[in-house]
Amino acid sequence: MPGVIEKYRHPDVPDISYLTNVEADGSIDAFGVRRASDWHYDGSFAERPPDCAMLFGIKIPSVGGGTLFADMHTAFITLPQDLRDRIEGLETINHFGLGPAGRDYFDGMSPDRWSAYQPVRRPLVMPHPITGRTLLKFCMIHTAGFSGMTHRDSASLMADLLAHATSDACAYYHAWQPGDLVLWDEHATMHRDAGDFPPEQPRVMLRAMVGGNPAE
Ligand SMILES: [Fe+2]
Repeated sequence: MPGVIEKYRHPDVPDISYLTNVEADGSIDAFGVRRASDWHYDGSFAERPPDCAMLFGIKIPSVGGGTLFADMHTAFITLPQDLRDRIEGLETINHFGLGPAGRDYFDGMSPDRWSAYQPVRRPLVMPHPITGRTLLKFCMIHTAGFSGMTHRDSASLMADLLAHATSDACAYYHAWQPGDLVLWDEHATMHRDAGDFPPEQPRVMLRAMVGGNPAE
């Protein structure tokens, strides 16, 4: 599945994109610094998101620069009863860049990019398509809200779910070494750049996504 932002695509292999904070002239790419630093799963705005993805570390900052992963099966099975009651029967409405943390995404592409996509609904609680394990499925960048709820109530519920799903019991921090290759299950996890590195230090990775429908 090609990355959605053309600027970062590998010139020869569109299914591979750079995650980089370095412009071609060597200056700092401000969007590249904060891109993907909010919790998400890739392609959540697409009808069929990718099945898995991988990152290969090339240049790693001397401080921080990690990637966080949240296990959305553990998040579901450990969900407190009051939150279970609040999410009963809900669907997410996913639309490009319209999640609580999505607005910055438009700095990386044309401002009307969101209008190229249709909203995609999927259950907030759904089985993993391969393992059948029950998952919580939402994304802070592209989940605009929940069906039948106001935008404000959706944002409040999403914040409560996020706090639980990204607590220490559900989350993993990967501290990179150059040459590391990390693969993850896009259905079962959310992830984010930890956003904890000095922006003037280069952080360069390659990313590939497997499966899903094309981003275009
Ligand atoms: Fe991502």
